[in-house]
Amino acid sequence: MRGRLVTGNWKMHGNRSANASLLDGVLAGMTDLAGIECAVCVPFPYLAETAARVASSKLGLGAQTLSEHESGAYTGEVSAGMLADMGCRYVLVGHSERRALFGETDGQVAAKFAAAQRSGITPILCVGETLAEREASRTRDVVFRQVDAVLEACGAASFAKAVLAYEPVWAIGTGRTASSEQAQEVHAFLRSRIADRDSGTAANLRILYGGSVKPGNAAEIFAMEDVDGGLIGGASLVAGDFLAICRAGASPR
Ligand code: 13P
Repeated sequence: MRGRLVTGNWKMHGNRSANASLLDGVLAGMTDLAGIECAVCVPFPYLAETAARVASSKLGLGAQTLSEHESGAYTGEVSAGMLADMGCRYVLVGHSERRALFGETDGQVAAKFAAAQRSGITPILCVGETLAEREASRTRDVVFRQVDAVLEACGAASFAKAVLAYEPVWAIGTGRTASSEQAQEVHAFLRSRIADRDSGTAANLRILYGGSVKPGNAAEIFAMEDVDGGLIGGASLVAGDFLAICRAGASPR
C-alpha cells in the first residue's frame, strides 16, 4: 500500500527566528508520529539552516521550485544539483502560483521535473484547474494537459520517482476546500491517466491533495482511496495545525 506523505509549503513566509520556533514545535511533536512521512518545502535562503535542524529527525526537506538548467549564466536561479547539495529530498514543480504569476509553461514544468530527477530529487508535480475551468467542466482536460506534458517528455516510468499533487487553484488559500468526493474524483482521473501507460507505476504513485487543508478537514480528505496525503500551505505555518494534519495522515486507511 502507498505510504502517506504530508508536505508543508511555507511559500514566501517566515524569517530565521519564526522558522526556528516553528521547526522546534514541529520536531517536538513528531517524535510520536509513526506511519506517515512528513516534509517541509522552505524558501531558498532558509534551506541550509532548516537542513541542519531536520538532519537528525524524520522531517524531510524540500524546495519550492528550481531551474530547469543544470548550471551556467542564469542569474538568480537555483539548480537541482544545488538543492541536492543542500539535502533536499523533494522539490515542488509547477505550483499554480509559479504557473500563474511567473509564467511557467507546461513544457518548462516538464523540464524542471526532469532536472530534479537527474539530481536524485523527487519532484512533486502540482496540477489543478481554476474556478472558471471547473465551472466550464474543463477540470479533467486541464489536469490531463498538465500531466501529459510530463508524461510525453519524461515517460510514465518517471512517475515511479515522483509525487503528484492535485491543487485546485480555487481552493488555495481561500478557505474553500474541495469536497472529499471532488478530490477523490480528480485523483482517480489522474491515477487512471498514468495507468493507461504504466499500471504498476500508477498503483504506487502518491497523489497529494492541496488547497485549504486544515486540522478539521484533513482526516476526511485523506480517507479517500486515491488521496495519499496533503500539500499544506497556510496551516503548515502553525506547528500545532501542521502536526494535527500529519496525525490525520498517520491514521490507517
Ligand atoms: P493553502 O493550504 O494555504 O490553501 O495552500 C495550498 C498550497 O498551495 C500548498 O502548496
